[in-house]
Amino acid sequence: MALQLGDIAPDFEADTTQGNIKFHDWLGTSWGVLFSHPKDYTPVCTTELGYTAKLKPEFDRRGVKAIGLSVDPLADHVNWSKDIEETQGHKVNFPMIADPERKVANLYGMIHPNASDTLTVRSVFIIDANKKIRLTLTYPASTGRNFDEILRVIDSLQLTDKHKLATPVNWKPGEDAIIVPSVSDEDAKKLFPQGFKTLKPYLRTTAVPK
Ligand code: BEZ
Repeated sequence: MALQLGDIAPDFEADTTQGNIKFHDWLGTSWGVLFSHPKDYTPVCTTELGYTAKLKPEFDRRGVKAIGLSVDPLADHVNWSKDIEETQGHKVNFPMIADPERKVANLYGMIHPNASDTLTVRSVFIIDANKKIRLTLTYPASTGRNFDEILRVIDSLQLTDKHKLATPVNWKPGEDAIIVPSVSDEDAKKLFPQGFKTLKPYLRTTAVPK
């Protein structure tokens, strides 16, 4: 069965551009973003990896480690990284898993045989500090992902964990959030001393605590 939200992200050992890793040990107490791309030396992937490298300070600020994967060999990852830096202006500063035997790709269901029986699709797994899968995304090979959206989801998830707040449609950091339904009005008064608006008993909004 496909991996689902709330499942523990399967552990694995793999060779990466930053050495051999045991995934759970490598994550430590950080969150993780594990993402696959179809193939090295391809244009869309080149832009995605360059942009992910640019976002490293943003991932760091949120306690998140990014790690890429494709079924290409390590030597290709290393050589292709030079092209990424040259064309995208950012040195790849996170590990890229070399998975030529498709061990990790199969473990995470990153190969969708009716799309391609050899290459990985564009999968994303956001994994929290307890190693639980909190988001899965699957994009086709021809569509580059929006990594700003991945950061936005991490902000939303961390907000829920920290403050019992959910985020409305198209929410952006700095905007009001929604008090989760399991919080009573009585508890909400204590949790959100800044106050909250009740539009309906089930729809209560508040400013995000600093
Ligand atoms: C790309 O990264 O550009 C790409 C990879 C596989 C199929 C189509 C596009």
